[in-house]
Amino acid sequence: MSQNKKLFNGKTLAILTGGGDTPALNSSIESIRNRASVLGYKVYGIRKGWKGLLGDGDVVDLSNQPYDGFYGGTALLSSRTNPFPSKKNPEDRVPQILRNLERYKIDVIVTIGGDDTNGAAKRLYLQEGIPVIGFPKTIDNDLRTRSMHHYNGTEIEAVLCPGFPSAAKGIMEFTHRMRTTAESHSRIIVLEVMGRDAGWLTGSASFGGADIALIPEYEITRERKDFFFERVKEAYMTSKKKALIIAVSEGVRWYDEAKDKLGVVYASSEVDEYGHPRFGGISGVIASEITNKLKIEARAQISGYYARAGECRLYDRRLTQTLADKVVDLLLSNQYGQMPVMKSIVKFQGLEEFNTTSVDMGSIGNMPLAEVYYDVNKFQFSDAFNDFMTQIVGEQHFLTFDYDFPVVIP
Ligand code: F6P
Repeated sequence: MSQNKKLFNGKTLAILTGGGDTPALNSSIESIRNRASVLGYKVYGIRKGWKGLLGDGDVVDLSNQPYDGFYGGTALLSSRTNPFPSKKNPEDRVPQILRNLERYKIDVIVTIGGDDTNGAAKRLYLQEGIPVIGFPKTIDNDLRTRSMHHYNGTEIEAVLCPGFPSAAKGIMEFTHRMRTTAESHSRIIVLEVMGRDAGWLTGSASFGGADIALIPEYEITRERKDFFFERVKEAYMTSKKKALIIAVSEGVRWYDEAKDKLGVVYASSEVDEYGHPRFGGISGVIASEITNKLKIEARAQISGYYARAGECRLYDRRLTQTLADKVVDLLLSNQYGQMPVMKSIVKFQGLEEFNTTSVDMGSIGNMPLAEVYYDVNKFQFSDAFNDFMTQIVGEQHFLTFDYDFPVVIP
């Protein structure tokens, strides 16, 4: 089709990425760029999230440029810039954004982000009438995408955000690797996993072999703490190799005896422009309490940015392409303020446009795990959750070495 016959010839679509990066961001950008180009749009990239529309602007042309969607992170760079006034930045930046949209002649924006970035986009759409389409992303997997998980004849409301499948695979591998060092020292390893408000990613550590898991959805009160220690001791003593991996979300609320209160552990006192503090360090607190109370050697390991780093895995690659197909549909039908999502949790081959729909974007964050996914009394993820993971990352498989050498008596 020649350029001047394309439907959106003469229009410009701009893409931005905001918030924490994921391994699927470049794949999302490339997939959206390719489809928008076929529709006739000139495609721009706004750099550093909303920040790229402040001041003189920071905009690049993505049309007809080579792109590597398998390379993790975002070539458009990211920030947690909030267009609206916040405690950290009281200035209203909306006028600057409007001015730059006009200067750069941008007709539509696709914002790839979580609740903060897409929430701000939705506000700009409602308040200023800027045509926006949101594209989901977060390794925490806690945006309400309304993707149904069909399990044993029941329907469970689950979530499927680009970035999570790659991060989950990374965390599974990370957890699996921890096993050999835990076994070699007969230790407990407390493995901290990102996840401020929900335990989806910690679930992938469990799927990767963690024996016990603590998630933000269930706080560890004084009473629950005693119960937790009993459970840890029992699990350790009955384990074949006298080794245990405990996965813990960074956002778990834990009872602090010295302060006689429940709280999270902060990595810093800083908050971002959306008011989020940075968590980190709960694994160290738990490991040292295990060592002191149970007299079992325990170590803390923070997986941190490992989950977010590295290449886009195949499931995410196809997921982002499929959701970008839905973006085409939204563009063709002028449906702004919407975000493409998968209707249900499907295996790799089911990632097809007919399985997608769209939801209203903005204020859809912090989607906790369904109760059926976690057994509070066992501190373990359930079979239903394992089935959810199997759809996305395939069957669980562990390498083990079950030795039982005869003891030599002199
Ligand atoms: O994007 C969400 C997230 O990955 C959280 O799990 C984590 O708390 C946060 O980002 C950390 O982000 P940063 O250190 O980049 O501000």
